[in-house]
Amino acid sequence: MSTTVVIFGASGDLAARLLYPALYRLEERGLLDEVRLVATALEDWTLAAFLGQVDTALAAHRTEPAPLERLRRRFSYQQGDLTPHAAAELAPLLSETNAYYLALPPGFFPTAAAAIAESGITQAGRHRLVVEKPFGTDGASAAALEDDLHRYWDERQIFRIDHYLGKETVQNLSVMRFANRVIEPLLRAEHVDQVQITVAETLGVEGRYRYYDGIGALRDMIQNHLMQLFCLAAMDAPAVWDADVLRDHKVEVMRAVRRPAGPVTGWASRGQYTAGSLRGSPVPGYLEEPGISAGSATETFAAVRLQVDSWRWQGIPFYLRSGKRLGADLSEIAFRFREPPTQLFTKTMLADAEPNWLVLRLDQPEGIDLFVQTRAPGTEMAAESSRLHTDFGSATEGVTAYEQLLLDVLEDDHTSFLRVDEVDWAWRILDCIIDEWSTGAPEPYQAGSSGPACQDSILLDGHAWRPLPE
Ligand code: BG6
Repeated sequence: MSTTVVIFGASGDLAARLLYPALYRLEERGLLDEVRLVATALEDWTLAAFLGQVDTALAAHRTEPAPLERLRRRFSYQQGDLTPHAAAELAPLLSETNAYYLALPPGFFPTAAAAIAESGITQAGRHRLVVEKPFGTDGASAAALEDDLHRYWDERQIFRIDHYLGKETVQNLSVMRFANRVIEPLLRAEHVDQVQITVAETLGVEGRYRYYDGIGALRDMIQNHLMQLFCLAAMDAPAVWDADVLRDHKVEVMRAVRRPAGPVTGWASRGQYTAGSLRGSPVPGYLEEPGISAGSATETFAAVRLQVDSWRWQGIPFYLRSGKRLGADLSEIAFRFREPPTQLFTKTMLADAEPNWLVLRLDQPEGIDLFVQTRAPGTEMAAESSRLHTDFGSATEGVTAYEQLLLDVLEDDHTSFLRVDEVDWAWRILDCIIDEWSTGAPEPYQAGSSGPACQDSILLDGHAWRPLPE
């Protein structure tokens, strides 16, 4: 049974950077055999001109001639302007099942979703709509966007992408938790005393100022990627592996997040990078980046402390932080375990032993580290921290997030896509921060550092952020 994937915004950056490489890799694996690809954009291109764009997009990737040729032959190109009239012209290219990928700026989602439905092409066959974050800029705008989409599309037809859910490690988080008797029973307040989720980037805004300025780290990263990681790390075990049950469990976590009244200062902090240096080279501050509005108060670093009022996590803080132009790239979920209930080694150097950490590494090489205390070789009873670790396979064997997610769309599997209430609850938790941060200014931090000092103010007594790698 064949499927057509229609890419709206086929001349854009998202398609070139992420979709064409992912489609190539699926082709190479022989997973597109029954798939037709239709590219559509405003440009008045011939098919050959469009394929030239695909070639350019793939030039930086390793490709083999045979699969590349197969991929090229799969494409049609259709000029179109997001009107019902233009969408109707897609009809001869459609199949029994169709997925419309809106690789467009979010402001165009309602127009495109309406144009497809109003053109009449969705009246027969199966139709899926794929949309990318950002889903609104706060709770109210997200709700308005969802109303626009739901006017024409059922929730079952909508695939909301958060590309973190397609990452190997994130998929592995659930397997690691729920397929291992040795790990899951330990992940609860009785044994864990804090959880830290960090996505630190050395990248700055990289020319994305139109999107990023006024949006900032809280909306760009915390509301979606880190919130999803938090839900997957904190949720209870679903009784069955089913997209809706899984998403019910994630929503349950967000519903249980304590939402303290009053100022957010005690549980949320923000920063903005100033000029500094990275790997020995000077880099400009955020306000000096091209395109950034003068005196912008957009935060490029955000940290929040979330507490889940559930039996499993009562009293345990989940710290989430993400920032740009930090001194190192680090993407991880880290559980810190409590001290053993009694200390046998009080009279030795083992008394200073470090608590255990279980760390899931989301950047390359993706994998798991468990830090345990072992006896240091020698005559003294002294401890050293040993790292038990595993890597999840190299980048070339592994599946990239977009490959995985495209495959899931083809297979109608919603497990790794956001349901509307997940988006809604994430905003409900963060809307009060957005309100409060609409005035005042973020604390400056130097590019290349580990972020603003105020990130420490949200930590509970005795807790410290895990250091970024040197
Ligand atoms: C995107 C954000 O969603 O995720 C970017 O808009 C960020 O600002 C990117 O750099 C990080 O993704 P990854 O996969 O590189 O960790």
